[in-house]
Amino acid sequence: MTTLDPRGKVAVVTGASAGIGHATARALANAGATVVATARRTEKLDQLASTHDAIAPYTADVTDMAAVEGLAAWVRDQYGACHILVNNAGASFGGRLLRGADVAAFERTIDLNLMGVVRCMTAFADLLFSAAPGRVVNIASVAGKLGFGPAAYVASKFALVGLTEAAGWDWRRKGVTVSQVNPGFIRTEQFPQDELMKSAWGRRLVGTPERVADVIVDVVRHGHPERTVPRWYRAGVVLRHVAAPVYWSVGGKGSRRL
Ligand SMILES: NC(=O)c1ccc[n+]([C@@H]2O[C@H](COP(=O)([O-])OP(=O)(O)OC[C@H]3O[C@@H](n4cnc5c(N)ncnc54)[C@H](OP(=O)(O)O)[C@@H]3O)[C@@H](O)[C@H]2O)c1
Repeated sequence: MTTLDPRGKVAVVTGASAGIGHATARALANAGATVVATARRTEKLDQLASTHDAIAPYTADVTDMAAVEGLAAWVRDQYGACHILVNNAGASFGGRLLRGADVAAFERTIDLNLMGVVRCMTAFADLLFSAAPGRVVNIASVAGKLGFGPAAYVASKFALVGLTEAAGWDWRRKGVTVSQVNPGFIRTEQFPQDELMKSAWGRRLVGTPERVADVIVDVVRHGHPERTVPRWYRAGVVLRHVAAPVYWSVGGKGSRRL
């Protein structure tokens, strides 16, 4: 795969009002891209755009197909191209399958974490293909590789990993790589990692949004199909596949009581 220099390219980052998306919008702008930063909170996006001339704010909810199509049409009108799409908007709404109300949380999670990416990839496909070579970077999670966490969130991220891999084979024929970046514990607005931050040992497990953003820019440059950050979390993923009995035994000891 050829390298892609972000300089002069047009990038769209979803979930850019906070956390990993906010840091990624800044990192891509610092790398020379023009960045459309999108999320629902306009004031946060305006604040972000005021920090860098190359960042343009656009308010959109990725659970709304008309809003996502409006975003793609605006990018086409303003810039005539899109080379980089970072699908980062995502959340966990609980959903441990204990009661009927969990069904709604499950649907909400899938609608944002999986269908949000489906909407964005669909709306931007033609723009990305016509401007190829290009990149799609989907922010999944280590929870999309190892089944720890709320079932709804884990299921949405496993599905996103599958979507990314399958679309990756198809889209590369059009000159667009589709990559997954899988963060471990990262301290952000939504995931403050309060429990881990209480101990020196726990704090060592927690990464920063800026570190993830640097990895995303690296993936944009080189088109790696998959990156885990912090990198050492990958040991768990490898264990899952090469020593499954050990994985199941260790995982069983760490699982929570319902
Ligand atoms: N932090 C971690 O430990 C961790 C680990 C693995 C994976 N991840 C993944 O990384 C991604 C970013 O998470 P984060 O930790 O940076 O969380 P965050 O700080 O809460 O940021 C989430 C972003 O998503 C946006 N968003 C939420 N719902 C949206 C919607 N319906 N439409 C458009 N934007 C929406 C939010 O903006 P608005 O509220 O303004 O819309 C916000 O900008 C998520 O996909 C998450 O699953 C995080």
